[in-house]
Formats: sequence, structure tokens, C-alpha cells
Amino acid sequence: MAQLWGGRFTKETDQLVYNFNASISFDRKFYKQDMKGSMAHVRMLAKQGILTEDERDVILEGIEGILKDVESGELEISDKYEDIHSFVEAVLIERIGDPGKKLHTGRSRNDQVALDMKLYTRDEVREIDALVEKLLVVLQRLMEEHIRTVMPGFTHLQKAQPITLAHHLGAYFEMFKRDRGRLSDIYERMNYCPLGSGALAGTTYPLDRDYTAEILDFTGPTLNSMDSVSDRDYLIELLSALSTIMMHLSRFSEEIIIWNTNEYRFVEIDDAYSTGSSIMPQKKNPDIAELVRGKTGRVYGALISLLTTMKGLPLAYNKDMQEDKELTFDAFDTVKGCLALFTGMLDTMKFNKPQMAASARNGFTNATDAADYLVNHGVPFRDAHGVIGRLVLYCIEQGKAIEELSLAELKSISPVFEEDIYEAVSMDTCVNKRLTLGAPGEKAMEQVIRKNREWLKAHGRLG
Ligand code: ARG
Repeated sequence: MAQLWGGRFTKETDQLVYNFNASISFDRKFYKQDMKGSMAHVRMLAKQGILTEDERDVILEGIEGILKDVESGELEISDKYEDIHSFVEAVLIERIGDPGKKLHTGRSRNDQVALDMKLYTRDEVREIDALVEKLLVVLQRLMEEHIRTVMPGFTHLQKAQPITLAHHLGAYFEMFKRDRGRLSDIYERMNYCPLGSGALAGTTYPLDRDYTAEILDFTGPTLNSMDSVSDRDYLIELLSALSTIMMHLSRFSEEIIIWNTNEYRFVEIDDAYSTGSSIMPQKKNPDIAELVRGKTGRVYGALISLLTTMKGLPLAYNKDMQEDKELTFDAFDTVKGCLALFTGMLDTMKFNKPQMAASARNGFTNATDAADYLVNHGVPFRDAHGVIGRLVLYCIEQGKAIEELSLAELKSISPVFEEDIYEAVSMDTCVNKRLTLGAPGEKAMEQVIRKNREWLKAHGRLG
């Protein structure tokens, strides 16, 4: 046990208490960010004349050495320290002696941990945003490829009207576009530097907080030291944005699982992204999609957990806040893994075009268009709706699609039908007449795909 704060204590901490309190098993994850923050702090202390230039150089060299040795595996982050901050400081003092004892001047672990978590989170948001961008690029390619691939569109999971695969995928494109928008808003809002806030009330040293904020690439310093050490809003809104990404991925996964069933056969998942059964040789299971759907719960759990931890906490720092880390780290890793695997699965998936087209033809998805035909020939819509309802009933009895009926059969139901009904209810007409912006018609889709290509160009990487 190696503690920074032994002075006031007359007894060793009980081992169980020590273990319960320690955070090194998980805050070791941001060792890099912790050292980066310390180096910025030291440079600022020297600029302000609080450290000499020699002291600064010795400390910086010491921290760089620790960083290098941790990365190469030569130096192991040991559990005998309470947290990553204590570990770095202790090793520094061990290596460079007295100057190392000045590292923590004008700083508390409260503003230090607030900074570390922000730096770490900022890196993670950038990575997650880049992964969502990759998914959008794959979706864009598939939309271009499948602008004419007809499939049924569903409501209530019942075939409703014919659409195209490009149109269906385009719905997800919009969702993930908004997800990137949320990440970028959060990034901008969180990008203020808490370093220099001390334990809660700033410090009496003449720190230059603008300077540390600048060298750490923040927009500026935070403006209230109490808030700085106890703000976890940015994590809560980020976990909410990540939950929304997972919610979108889980809906998409669910559809892929349905499309992959023997009954639908709309898609074939690449062998590299599916698994077999230990007992049933015929099986090819959509495990990746199922796991993505399943892991959504963990990310929601992190959000609810942190909201609950923060509820009712008085200002400023409380140890409860240490609970912000494990579940958040797990959520970051989960979302990154799910995005990467889902994108790989989608990129390699085969779409069974004839099967999708046949499915659109076989479910009366052109019934609305048949009603519209009557309306265009002077029948009021409500009457047309009733006529087509009877027509569908007749088709079900005969085991036929609307376009498979003879003109005589059609006329027996409504004399308004003429030869041109066949063209009016063909899948091609049904899709391509839907030309309002946002609809599946080819011309409308081309316009959307173009706008999306521009959007991708205009929204580069974060940071
Ligand atoms: N491990 C702590 C955390 O994650 C670091 C801050 C400790 N501060 C304190 N006053 N004990 O929140």
C-alpha cells in the first residue's frame, strides 16, 4: 500500500478498505492522458515561475521516461498504488528525487482526475465518430448500388408498399448522421479544461489556466472550479448518445436477423461474420447481429447507472464520482466493438435481389397504387379503398397477385379498370412514381444520395 496522504493518519488502512477505495485497476486505462496532463501542468508552472526551468526539464524528462517504459512493458503499473495519479508521482520521485515532489504543486487529484477523464473521453469520442463515419461510407456505397433493388417496405412487420433497398438503408443513414451530429455537439460542449480548479476552490498559486487549456487543445478553461471538479454531465450526455447509437444498431441488427431467416432469405451473411451450431450442421447463425442487439443493454445500463450515481450529490467532489469510470469505459469499448463488427458484416453481406423483388410482388404491396389508379379515374378515395379491399380478398381466394388477374376479372370488381392498370401496379411504377423528396423513387433517391455525399465531405473528423 502506497498512499499520498499518510501524514494525518496513525494507522494503516484496513486491506479491505484499501481495496474498496482503490481505482488503479481501472484508471490505469488513462495513464497516457494522466502523464500528458501532468506535463502540461509542469510547463505552465515553469512559465509562471513556480518551478525553475531546470526543475521543469527534469520532471518532463522523468515523465517521458515513465511513459516510454510503461508503453514498452518495462515498467508495470502496479496495484500497490491507490490510483494512476499516485503511481506516476511515486515512480517520478523514485526516479528523479526532490523535483518530483513538486509535480503536484497547485493541483489536486480532483481537478487532475477531471482532466484525465476528459482527455480520455475526448479521444474515445473521436474514435467512435470515425467508426460511425466508416459505417456511413459503407451505407452510401450500398445505397448507390441498390437504388433499383425493389423490396417490400413494412409497417407492423406486415408488407405495406414497395420500396428499394437504397431507401431502406437510407433510413439508417439518417439515424447515424444524427448520431454523428450528437457526438460533435457533445465534443464541443465538453471541450473546456478543468485543470487549475484545485480540490474545489482553485489555488493561491498564480496559475495560467488559459495556457494549460491551450496546450491541451481545449477551447478554453472551465469557469467555475466547483463545477469543474464535479461535472459529469458530459459523460451522461455522451452515454445517452452512445445508447442511441446502440439503439439504432440494434434495430438494424434485428432486421438483418429477420432478413437472414430461411423464411425471408433477403440476405446472406458472409461466412466470416456468422457461426455454426455444435449440433445442427445446417445452421449459419447471425451471431454478430445478435450480440450487437444484446450488448445494447450494457450501454443503457451505464447511462442509468451514472445518472443514478450523480443524483443528489452535493457540491463539489464526492468519492461516488469514481464510479463514473468502469461502466463508461465498458460502454466505450462496447460501442467501438459493435460499430466495427457491424460495419464489417454489412460491408460483406450479400443481398438476394430476386428474393426481395418476389417478396414485394407477393404481398399486395401495390394495393395502394391500385386504389390510386381508381382515384385517378374519378372514384373517390374512400370508395376506391373499399373496392381494392374486395379485390385483395378475391386475389387471396384465387391465390393470385393483383397483376395476375385477367382484365375481365378486374372489371368484374370495378368496371373502371382498363388495360393500363397492369402498368400502374407494376413494382417499377409503384416505386418510381414516388418522387417526393425522401421517397424511394429513383430520381428522389439520387438527389438524397448526392446530398449525403456532400454531407460526408463537409463533416470530416472531429477535433
Ligand atoms: N480515483 C479518484 C476518482 O476517480 C480520483 C480523485 C480522488 N480524489 C480524492 N479526493 N480522493 O474520482
